[in-house]
Amino acid sequence: MDKIVVEGGRQLNGEVKISGAKNAALPVLVAALLTDGWNTFKNVPDLRDIDSTRQLLTHLGAAVERSGETVRINAAGLNNPEAPYDIVRKMRASILVLGPLVARLKRARVSLPGGCAIGARPINLHLKGLAALGAAIDLDHGYVEAKADRLTGADIYFDIPTVTGTENLMMTAVLAHGTTVLRNAAREPEIVALADMLTGMGARIEGAGTSIITIRGVDALNPTTFTVIPDRIEAGTFMVAAALTRGQVTLRGCEPAHLEACTDKLKLAGAKISVEDKGLTVAGGDAFNSVDLRTQPYPGFPTDMQAQFMVLMSVANGLSVISETIFENRFIHVSELRRMGADIRVTGNTAVVRGVSHLSAAPVMASDLRASASLILAGLVAKGSTEVNRVYHLDRGYQAIEKKFAALGAAVRRLPA
Ligand code: EPZ
Repeated sequence: MDKIVVEGGRQLNGEVKISGAKNAALPVLVAALLTDGWNTFKNVPDLRDIDSTRQLLTHLGAAVERSGETVRINAAGLNNPEAPYDIVRKMRASILVLGPLVARLKRARVSLPGGCAIGARPINLHLKGLAALGAAIDLDHGYVEAKADRLTGADIYFDIPTVTGTENLMMTAVLAHGTTVLRNAAREPEIVALADMLTGMGARIEGAGTSIITIRGVDALNPTTFTVIPDRIEAGTFMVAAALTRGQVTLRGCEPAHLEACTDKLKLAGAKISVEDKGLTVAGGDAFNSVDLRTQPYPGFPTDMQAQFMVLMSVANGLSVISETIFENRFIHVSELRRMGADIRVTGNTAVVRGVSHLSAAPVMASDLRASASLILAGLVAKGSTEVNRVYHLDRGYQAIEKKFAALGAAVRRLPA
């Protein structure tokens, strides 16, 4: 398996182009199932999860073509209601096909995604919503089976705002009879992007980006063309990298409005940030202040940036308290950071980080996507050569990360297995 080797101590300087967002691309590609005819997607990142989506959609009967950053999908041949274990186990977001399959084929059989390294990650709220829209749901041999001859709009309340749950039910409700109201819906930019895509297909959706989304069902949707929004987590990762190495990096093609929580925390920590149209520049100060943070659903601080920010706090002055409120086991990077000399204590969902003067390189193991990114960040400032193993996690969600870092002056290289 490939590994990434990082020689610490180089400042990052220059410009980096932010790719399309993984978590926005996955649901919009799946939404192509809702219509026949060729949909065109631009700015699609080149990632392992996108390949898994292509494999899944092809398995279901859709035609998928890719040329550079453009992907075209035609679901006229959609005929298979089953998403098998072999694909779903590689990518939990495969559950997104559940609603669209029921809407188009009246039935779906989707392998139940298990837990993953960061938590149990149930899908009860997806299923509760689908049942409210009229689907009969069974769990059998590790699969969710959902059937509905007719889907009817409903009032659905989410106990917790769920990103993929909101997306799944939006995609189901657009073809249901009557009106659906999603309450306590997720408000992430990826939800707004999906609503924009569906609206472009002829769906009638109001309120995306707020906690109440109203969807008036239509009989059929048309193919459309859609540009994937920039990846706010990739952008946030480079923002932290710039600050951490006390360099100056300009991010091109990002959306500053999606990055406000990260911008705020980085400024409090002492970084200088100037915002431009579709870009921003981050410059690290001489020293960092410790800052507390608590992960929250958008627009709060994203759980997907918690590990990266913890690295910055590991070398800040003083004590930082980091609370993870979204996933119950998202501190798996802590033991690896400790091996690199970080002083972090975890009690329940809270990590207390006491800044140290420096980190020291060590071989470390990546355990999930964002934890992997945090270990590269740690390597950028550690003394010596850090080896990050199991980098397949990174390839799921960061496009050419080692090349982007190297172009900014970091000594980061991939060693093939
Ligand atoms: C999405 O996961 C993202 N994935 C995650 O990205 C991200 O960390 C997460 O949202 C939170 O922002 C995609 O968009 C593909 P949730 P999702 O449902 O939708 C609980 C990354 O690294 N919950 O919003 O699976 C759940 O356990 C990742 O790119 C239920 O209890 O997350 C969690 O505590 C990993 N029942 C909370 O809701 C449900 O039915 C929020 O999870 C669904 C969720």
